[in-house]
Amino acid sequence: MSRWYRVQITGLNHRGEGTGRVLSGPDEGLVVFVPGTLPGDLVECFLVERKKNFVRGQVERFLEYGDGRVDALCKVASLCGGCAWQHIDYNVQLEWKARIVKEALWRVARISDCDVLPCVASPRVLGYRNKVEVPLAFRKGQVVAGFYEPFTHNVVPSDNCILEHPAARKVIANLLEQVKKRKYRVYNEKTGRGQIRHLVARVAPGTGECMAVPVSNAHRLPKARAMAVELMESTDNLKSVVLNINTKRTNVVMGDKDRLLAGRMYIQDILGSGEPGRDLGRLKFRISPRSFYQVNSDQAVNLYRIALSWAGIDSSDVVYDIYCGIGTITLFAALQASFAVGVEDVDAAIRDAWKNARDNEIDNVGFVCGKAERVLPGLHNKYPKPDVVILDPPRGGSDKGALAAIANLNPRNIVYVSCNPATLARDLIFLRNQGWSAVKCQPLDMFPMTPHVECVALMSRVKE
Ligand SMILES: C[S@@+](CC[C@H](N)C(=O)[O-])C[C@H]1O[C@@H](n2cnc3c(N)ncnc32)[C@H](O)[C@@H]1O
Repeated sequence: MSRWYRVQITGLNHRGEGTGRVLSGPDEGLVVFVPGTLPGDLVECFLVERKKNFVRGQVERFLEYGDGRVDALCKVASLCGGCAWQHIDYNVQLEWKARIVKEALWRVARISDCDVLPCVASPRVLGYRNKVEVPLAFRKGQVVAGFYEPFTHNVVPSDNCILEHPAARKVIANLLEQVKKRKYRVYNEKTGRGQIRHLVARVAPGTGECMAVPVSNAHRLPKARAMAVELMESTDNLKSVVLNINTKRTNVVMGDKDRLLAGRMYIQDILGSGEPGRDLGRLKFRISPRSFYQVNSDQAVNLYRIALSWAGIDSSDVVYDIYCGIGTITLFAALQASFAVGVEDVDAAIRDAWKNARDNEIDNVGFVCGKAERVLPGLHNKYPKPDVVILDPPRGGSDKGALAAIANLNPRNIVYVSCNPATLARDLIFLRNQGWSAVKCQPLDMFPMTPHVECVALMSRVKE
């Protein structure tokens, strides 16, 4: 499939690739996606993949460089699938994140009347990731930890990712030492054999507490407790060592069983600042090994601040927080409202949410465990109808049944928090057909150096 193209890069797509068209020859005008490029680059590339409407190229030679190119800080940036945008100046990244949101709203839903605001920069551009998951591999007789190459499961060894919180990185380094010292066998995806699949570390930046989670392919790991005790001794602020058991032959990192090896089953973080009413308030949150927790804690505070201020919560209001995780938005909303209800389908997260309410002495909340699409239609029989609904679904977006139920509840405001502009756009169209339109959308950079972008969208009822 070796074919050469000269391509002028004019845009960036949601996967972080430069986009452009072939400049001459029989394929003139053909759309090409080229990783590692940016708008303004003129490149010669060769074809690596052909799809129906586009091809994917790999740069052979840069003929001209676009404005905004910077040197990548990490030596494996071009190999690792983690940071597609390290070669792009941070302000240019922010500009393109807002454009990617605007383009998705138009491409997927033909929405042009929603005001897309400039992207909010992350308070930390490096060292922001509070959760690190690394696969292991066996190379030249050594166990190595690293990252998958883009779109593959080839492990690129790396022990110094600049996006990771330094404390989480230290936990991974110490876990890896234990794997080597105890000669645990590395899991092989092809054969399904081996003992350790992944190493996971979490840190709570507000308190410094850390958690270590080796993911095991078997229910028992020899000398696991001794390993945990040594880890606790060698790692500052390590409060929790949990063995996660994943015996399934899937790509999912963590299995559905956890065994406490040392310390406690959770770490605790503190988020927010200021007085509730004037600002978010300040709350404590327990995080279990498998509970969802926003990966960039400082930017999560900005996200919650914007979502709650757009929600326009009154002290007499009832707020529903759909897809609530460990109850972060629910509990901040409860500080402003008369009552808040969180809905979430992971029972460990709901247990954390109840404990978080208790730890913060908040009693004007309720949490319901179950799929939003099943729980929502009957929720107003248990709790008062909401004045405001906030929803924050996973990347795949919301279920239509859940969206229809939200529209039927007829709240005053709907605030949609999204980590995927394409599914946001799809769901906004569904809500539009139910009588709600998107007024404004705030992109936030939760994941610097990557093309991912978080959004808050405010919906209002379409006037009859
Ligand atoms: C993007 S997270 C949002 C969590 C929370 N708002 C936060 O900021 O920490 C989405 C959450 O939705 C949950 N979830 C996924 N599908 C669900 C469903 N069908 N019904 C209810 N919750 C679901 C996930 O477990 C996850 O906790």
